[in-house]
Amino acid sequence: SDRQRVQKALLTWFDAKQRTNMPWRKPARLDMTKEELAQRAYEVWVSEIMLQQTQVATVIGYYERWMASFPTIYDLASADLEQVNTLWAGLGYYSRAKRLWEGAKKVVQELEGCLPNNAADLEKQIPGVGPYTAGAVASIVFGQQTPLVDGNVIRVLARLRAIRADMKKSNVVDLFWKLAGALVPKERPGDFNQALMELGATVCTPANPACDACPVQSDCHALNQWHLHGRLTEQ
Ligand code: ADE
Ligand code: SF4
Repeated sequence: SDRQRVQKALLTWFDAKQRTNMPWRKPARLDMTKEELAQRAYEVWVSEIMLQQTQVATVIGYYERWMASFPTIYDLASADLEQVNTLWAGLGYYSRAKRLWEGAKKVVQELEGCLPNNAADLEKQIPGVGPYTAGAVASIVFGQQTPLVDGNVIRVLARLRAIRADMKKSNVVDLFWKLAGALVPKERPGDFNQALMELGATVCTPANPACDACPVQSDCHALNQWHLHGRLTEQ
């Protein structure tokens, strides 16, 4: 089907072309212990919060300094806010750092250091974790078949499905969550979600998308209906 072809094409492309300089990306294993999963959840949580308003290239250094200071969620929970803010300095949106720290304290005090393993509980139980972060941690770390939507994902899906809509309307964003949810595969949901974001960041860019290099070009309704790249860049 169309859905399976898109899934397979994106995962194959991700295996070959993903950026390999992200220290928070590590291969998932089926035999990970509870402690290893808890550590991965902490790492992916920190990275995804940092990535929300900041470019990958900037985040790398911040992530590495953060992990050198707070290698585990216990180290973060026992730090003071001033130390946390110092490590965040330059990333902006300091409330993100404060909520990470508050979340870490809650996870240590109430959840034995383990973040919940599914998107619903992550969002419900952890301060500062919204639908995007919940989807990222649940799919990337715990292999839950659950979507995530950010600006890159919206742009890619809007083009794939040739949807022109006002993204400022909340029912439109809901539509993209539904589209993403219908597309995310049971196998490798985290890689698939990251592949969608990565395609948007490196190929299906806001201006002048590199459709010639796109793994889903044959399934892209925008490319196949509109043809003109000038039209695409308006999206
Ligand atoms: N942007 C935010 N999180 C990302 C991830 N895990 N992979 C690629 N791009 C991202
Ligand atoms: Fe984006 Fe072009 Fe790929 Fe369509 S073919 S998803 S517009 S890069």
